[in-house]
Amino acid sequence: MILSGPEAQSSTRKAIHPPKYPQITQMDTSVWICVYLCHLWAVDFVRCFKTGGSYNLAMVHRSRRLPKDLSLNRLAEARTRIGEVPYDLTISNPTACGISYPSDLLAGLADPRGLDYEPDPRGLMAARRAVSAEYKRWGATPDPRRIVLTASTSEAYGFLIRLFCDPGNAVLVPSPSYPLLEHLARLDGVDALTYDLDGEAGWRVDFPSLESCPAQVRAVVVVHPNNPTGSFIHPDDRERLVGLCREREWALIADEVFLPYPLDGGPGKAQTFASVEDCLCCTLGGLSKSLGLPQIKLGWIVMTGPGNLVETALDGLDYVADASLSVSTPAALALPSMLATGATIPDEISDRCRTNLGTLRRLVSEHHAVTLAPVGGGWNAVLRVPSVVSEEDLCLQLLERHGVAVHPGHFFDFRAKGWLVISLLPSADQFAEGARLLLDGVAQTLIPPHSGSDGG
Ligand SMILES: Cc1ncc(COP(=O)(O)O)c(C=O)c1O
Repeated sequence: MILSGPEAQSSTRKAIHPPKYPQITQMDTSVWICVYLCHLWAVDFVRCFKTGGSYNLAMVHRSRRLPKDLSLNRLAEARTRIGEVPYDLTISNPTACGISYPSDLLAGLADPRGLDYEPDPRGLMAARRAVSAEYKRWGATPDPRRIVLTASTSEAYGFLIRLFCDPGNAVLVPSPSYPLLEHLARLDGVDALTYDLDGEAGWRVDFPSLESCPAQVRAVVVVHPNNPTGSFIHPDDRERLVGLCREREWALIADEVFLPYPLDGGPGKAQTFASVEDCLCCTLGGLSKSLGLPQIKLGWIVMTGPGNLVETALDGLDYVADASLSVSTPAALALPSMLATGATIPDEISDRCRTNLGTLRRLVSEHHAVTLAPVGGGWNAVLRVPSVVSEEDLCLQLLERHGVAVHPGHFFDFRAKGWLVISLLPSADQFAEGARLLLDGVAQTLIPPHSGSDGG
């Protein structure tokens, strides 16, 4: 038989160089590769065994998008060692706080239409209409065609960073604020530069720190209300920000995941950025906060602004979203019914936060050294404590001696020392006891080491 192609070549080679060990040369190349890799592994294993060290994984290259040091900090280490903490005032997962959800909340996930797959980078139109309708309560009616579904708000940040920034560009993020922003930017090869929120002025935007930023900035993030300070963007700051974004050609990214949770409120509490029309504005929201359902993995971006900018941005966003098409069809199909059935969930979570905030106010009023900042909105409260010991040492003491977990302010990039952040989500009993222990623990740090013991 006359062969052509690769078979012909190999048969020719065989004929010219008869194999010395035919049984070996006939082995598949992949077998050789496996043998070689096993050899490498065995050599490494023996070396490790001899030196008594851990198995060597140094051959894994980790990109510079990840932090160099991924080891646990002291607090995380202590929590791992201790295991379950009796009073966890860092909890941010509403599904673990005894919130009661309607029993038929997830019924829509079984919609048989979920067996069909019709991919669309912006997500199912019916779901986008339902998202648009959510904004009516704040007086906005965003165009559903300009809404893009995502698997979470965190993913939405990633999409927007990829859309607006080249590697080496920067986004401006508030300080103090939600710590994940920096990591999300870094994972996309982008710098997160901070602008200040002025604590003395009710966390108003410090415009000089914003305006003096370098040229590589492409977008500015506002968190409305902010996590953890709970402060809303003041209407005057909003106007100035929009003007600045228009002038500098920055995109404005407004994270409104906590907008459905006003507590003490404040100027701006009922305003959504989804009504901004004078600059390119991307308003973010998601079920993880609006219905307390982080496990459903559904968020969204509402694009508003001058028509030509929005359409150009949406074309790019289609490309970014199309690369992963990450929103599940059952979740998108169920969104309208989840929003309708779960309409009472924000009230229940708000009631919990209000009850705990009231308890905290009462307890703090008995401790003159501690102050509670106003909580505009959201699920956290911030406490000002005397900086007798470092925040980290204080948190460790509270954890190890009193069984209370709290966040140090520096996790959220507070500029000054002496801030603690606590969650208002725990059950009322847990919260009251945890807060009492926390305040007693802080008071103990104020007692000089030998006071009382020597008599006098
Ligand atoms: C201000 C803020 N934005 C976004 C997120 C992330 O939300 P998601 O679960 O939708 O990714 C969080 C999570 O706590 C947050 O606090």
